[in-house]
Amino acid sequence: MKSVAEQVKEIYRITAHDYDRLITPCRVGQFAALIAELNPKGKERALDVGCGPGGLTLRLAQSLPHGEVVGVDINEKVLGIARAKAGEEGLENISFHQEDALSLSFADESFDLVVSSFMLPWVPDPDRALAEIHRVLKEGGKIGLITAESRFYDFFYEALEELLLCYPKHFEKIKADELIGAQRFDGRELQKKLEELGLSIHRRFHLSIEDPITPEQYLRRINTITAELYLKPLPPCMWEEARSVLKNKLEELGRAGTELLAVECSLILVGIKERR
Ligand SMILES: C[S@@+](CC[C@H](N)C(=O)[O-])C[C@H]1O[C@@H](n2cnc3c(N)ncnc32)[C@H](O)[C@@H]1O
Repeated sequence: MKSVAEQVKEIYRITAHDYDRLITPCRVGQFAALIAELNPKGKERALDVGCGPGGLTLRLAQSLPHGEVVGVDINEKVLGIARAKAGEEGLENISFHQEDALSLSFADESFDLVVSSFMLPWVPDPDRALAEIHRVLKEGGKIGLITAESRFYDFFYEALEELLLCYPKHFEKIKADELIGAQRFDGRELQKKLEELGLSIHRRFHLSIEDPITPEQYLRRINTITAELYLKPLPPCMWEEARSVLKNKLEELGRAGTELLAVECSLILVGIKERR
């Protein structure tokens, strides 16, 4: 199988525009909650790491009329979408650059605010990404993270387990989590990691979106963030059959509970870099 970093590049190359359409009013609510918790004064210099098509970056720029926001992402295609949207909104205090979160080019302590939304699940080494975020943050500066909590898309992970059971030879020694390539986080553990780096976390909360959804809609949404790469261990002639296995399992899970829900359970943490 491809490395996580290669998978991520491939996914967002394929799904960049669809991903942008996933930024629903509920996601906007998560961005708004994060910005409200950060409570910017309006003059800060901010960085959005793994900014994607700019959903959070643009809103942050609006709340910093006398400051500036830099959005970075490993994928040039999503940056193009973000730049176009910033242009449409006439935002001049924003710029986008291609960068790897694992080795940022910025000097130590160069930002008053650093945010990152749903990037951590996709980096092969989240600890290193967090260390980079901490490095470029000024002392007394604030960090705001949104990431996938351990229950994120639980139903789909269950459906994937079924796929693994149906095709044991093809998926030998592969776990459902590895198939998606994204990691999910436990709030307490993530907070501990941040505290070990020297951040003091003053807010940690969940903000979930629970959408009643049909199995077809569920798969379409999942495919926007995975580009169906989880089917790759199977030969293409088996993909249709595998899609039916997933759909049937999702239908069964919907019948077993009250209804099928796409649970996007996000974990939000806000903290300050302690002064030495
Ligand atoms: C799920 S999207 C989130 C986008 C945006 N932050 C949002 O919340 O809508 C994950 C983003 O992380 C980016 N990404 C993944 N690995 C990265 C890395 N090593 N360095 C920078 N960006 C990365 C992907 O290209 C993608 O745009």
